[in-house]
Amino acid sequence: MKYGIIGTGWIAESFIEGARLKCGADISAVYSRTAEKGNAFASKNGIPRVFTDMESFLASDIEAVYIASPNVCHFPQSKMCLEAGKHVICEKPVTVTSAQYAECKAIADSKGLVYIEAIMYMHTPGREILRESLNSIGRISSAQFDFSQLSSKYPAYLRGENPNIFNPEMATGAFMDLGIYCVYPAIDLFGMPSKITADSVFLDSGADASGSALLNYSDKLVTLTYSKTGQDYSGSKILGDEGTICIESISKLVLGLKFDSEGAQTVILPDVPKAELMGFEAEDFERFIRNIRDDKYALCDETTRKVLSVMEKIRECSGIRFGKDDNDA
Ligand SMILES: NC(=O)c1ccc[n+]([C@@H]2O[C@H](COP(=O)([O-])OP(=O)(O)OC[C@H]3O[C@@H](n4cnc5c(N)ncnc54)[C@H](OP(=O)(O)O)[C@@H]3O)[C@@H](O)[C@H]2O)c1
Repeated sequence: MKYGIIGTGWIAESFIEGARLKCGADISAVYSRTAEKGNAFASKNGIPRVFTDMESFLASDIEAVYIASPNVCHFPQSKMCLEAGKHVICEKPVTVTSAQYAECKAIADSKGLVYIEAIMYMHTPGREILRESLNSIGRISSAQFDFSQLSSKYPAYLRGENPNIFNPEMATGAFMDLGIYCVYPAIDLFGMPSKITADSVFLDSGADASGSALLNYSDKLVTLTYSKTGQDYSGSKILGDEGTICIESISKLVLGLKFDSEGAQTVILPDVPKAELMGFEAEDFERFIRNIRDDKYALCDETTRKVLSVMEKIRECSGIRFGKDDNDA
């Protein structure tokens, strides 16, 4: 598969590494807003062509695009790529709103193209293991999913700079960046909640620094916590009446332990080499392109739609806003 890359941050490098390792991906071109950054990224990552003009990038012979730009760019760039006939795998959150996602997916469907969110949770082998393991811990009454990671950009923010990640105009902040990783397992493992409550604390920039959401299912409560201004070391937990599952990384689904009712532990989610992590989503993406009727593709679409609608509700409850007067960014 001949890929074009949009965005020249570290995450694009991780995707390239994983896609090359797992699928032998041909990373054929990169789009950057500046020739300087584009050339530096291309030479570091062995990419033959650099474009600074989106139209020429999309007129080239690339077949698929991986988008790793700030969240606010995902919708217009996804739309442009799909309209140009390219398959798209776009970083999380795939779009800001459900309506934007539905619009892009409709374009993809009408052209027989694949459009997916680059969310590790849905594609890592750990997902199936986790789902299977839930059957052995009895009745589940509560779960806590946490992704709290002190941002490397926070010192710059405190110095008065305006990094994208703390700039609401980029549709970023703790919830969009990290909270999404907590929403995915909740929806995938337990379905849609009957009630959602949520709140956040905000920086002066208007970005949410950290927050919590409570998802009420009739038989269980699922708590989501996320922060970019504090570091968690205790991970995520799922509590049943016959056992407990503890997971160190809910985004990568690695380092998971199951405790039985006696407290004896078994490793259920082993570590995965960093180079492979983003290769799983590239593998699924390429499989969906070969067979657009793959059941997992339909599942990814359905889960993304549910997750985006829950995210809209959590943002509404928490007062997380991006545009001047609305949530549409
Ligand atoms: N899957 C994961 O584990 C993971 C991890 C981190 C981030 N992400 C996601 O990846 C995406 C990018 O995150 P990031 O932290 O790399 O973002 P970023 O550094 O703010 O921007 C990424 C790239 O987009 C371009 N860009 C920057 N500002 C822009 C602007 N105002 N308008 C248009 N393009 C701009 C830049 O490339 P040029 O200057 O070369 O154009 C930059 O290298 C986000 O959606 C984030 O959620 C995912």
